[in-house]
Amino acid sequence: MTTTPTRPTTVPAIEQLPQPKLRTNTDIQGNILAAFNKDFTDFRYLHFPDAAKGRGWLSAILNTVATTNETEDFNEQFSLARRAFGRDPALTTVRCGVSLTFEGLVTVASNPDQVKKDLAGFPAFCAGAAARAQALGDADESDPKHWLFGAGAGDKVVHAVLIVAADTEELLKEKLKNLDAVENAHQITRVHVDQGRTLTGPLRGHEHFGYKDGISQPGVKDFHREDPESKGVRDNHAGTELIEPGEFVFGHKSEAGDRKAPAWMKNGSLQVVRRLRQDVAGWNKAVVEGVKNFTGTMDPNRLGACLVGRAKDGTPLAPPTGTVTGLGSDRNDFDYENDPIGQHTPWVAHIRRTHPRAFAGIGDDKPKSHRLMRRGIPYGPEFQGGADDGKDRGLMFVCYGTSLEMQFELVQQHWANDPNFPPGDPSGAPHVPNGLDKVIGLAGKAEIGLADGTSGTVDMKRFVRTTGALYAFTPSISTLRLL
Ligand code: HEM
Repeated sequence: MTTTPTRPTTVPAIEQLPQPKLRTNTDIQGNILAAFNKDFTDFRYLHFPDAAKGRGWLSAILNTVATTNETEDFNEQFSLARRAFGRDPALTTVRCGVSLTFEGLVTVASNPDQVKKDLAGFPAFCAGAAARAQALGDADESDPKHWLFGAGAGDKVVHAVLIVAADTEELLKEKLKNLDAVENAHQITRVHVDQGRTLTGPLRGHEHFGYKDGISQPGVKDFHREDPESKGVRDNHAGTELIEPGEFVFGHKSEAGDRKAPAWMKNGSLQVVRRLRQDVAGWNKAVVEGVKNFTGTMDPNRLGACLVGRAKDGTPLAPPTGTVTGLGSDRNDFDYENDPIGQHTPWVAHIRRTHPRAFAGIGDDKPKSHRLMRRGIPYGPEFQGGADDGKDRGLMFVCYGTSLEMQFELVQQHWANDPNFPPGDPSGAPHVPNGLDKVIGLAGKAEIGLADGTSGTVDMKRFVRTTGALYAFTPSISTLRLL
């Protein structure tokens, strides 16, 4: 006999919760506001032999491209079921997303000159990631001449990025078989393919250095639900402020109201893809050896946490600023306001440099205009410990936003890589510049001085190098239909 499971009364029925209007949007592609969140995610970097074949391929895959509505519907059903039954439900699916580089857009556009004119206000996008590499610190081993994609000429120019994301390997394989046939029919060539795979066992949800990832994301007005008791804050996510949707999707209100774009970009977003190889053995050795340069109470785990800003299980070093308790290791209820010189979360910490929270406005008046919607996934085999095994592993870093210059590039170039950030603020508070981001920044020294008197210097080389990068535009479903 089968019984219908009844949902415990503490779990609100989905239909009882107010429905923010972007939650059901069917024009914005999935993965921008709602994450695909899949364990098996392939990235195909594709080249169109000519305009007709590119357009033919796009129209053939159109029906397979996921919308925000279906992506979020799945995610919500998944988390409601998990809350109700205390385990992951057996729901599986496959989701696709497509983006076009500047060269891809110009190739398939019916009026390429107009498209070029329309894009004049997007210089980083038009130039492409390889042209911006030097400014972003991609030199030496990270120089575009070593990249696997994104710096190619001729038939190695990437026109489209296709993301194929599935809950199981079988589903992914089945989908890829269909997509292979469509690519062959339109003579589309693959410049490169990356296989994003979540780590398994205790490392599930963690990146290769071992730290829990995917915790802090921006909250979006009209997409995420607002906390009924804390206005402007995302429901169930203490500390996550809701910001304007135009920060991530064109054609909507943005924080500064300055993200202008032509009509065909409405409901679209700019995508950054970076293939970041991680030297895990090198990182592990550096945090073990780095302890020697400290006085006080330092050990490799504590030093690693100082460089990331969170312990391996995600627990932040920052003391909470709110009153909500029981938030667990994914806690996000802090803003560093009570820690101006970095005695809890050192200024060198990756999460502090890439999102300085209360200090984000230093040097500009648009503190909420630098957030990134991150959608990364690890690639490559899990590290088994010990010496370097020479295997290629790292993070497929993906993020979305409506300004490459104000969002991804500012964070990478200025916040992570600029020795003069933070510059000190007008109130005279001593925000000592004490070292570059050790996860994604350039090599160099960093000073750490903690509240318990422990202090020392970290002197590390880079353990993350760029092995491919692209800027692309993720059009709305309606614009894809018109191309
Ligand atoms: C957060 C690792 C690349 C921007 C984090 C976290 C980890 C992490 C462990 C903390 C968990 C979380 O809040 O989600 C890495 C690794 C990278 C990498 C290992 C490269 C291999 C990047 C890049 C950027 C970036 C290239 C942007 C330029 C951020 C931001 C946060 C974050 C904005 C959230 C900070 C916050 O709001 O507290 N990263 N990351 N990361 N990362 Fe990265």
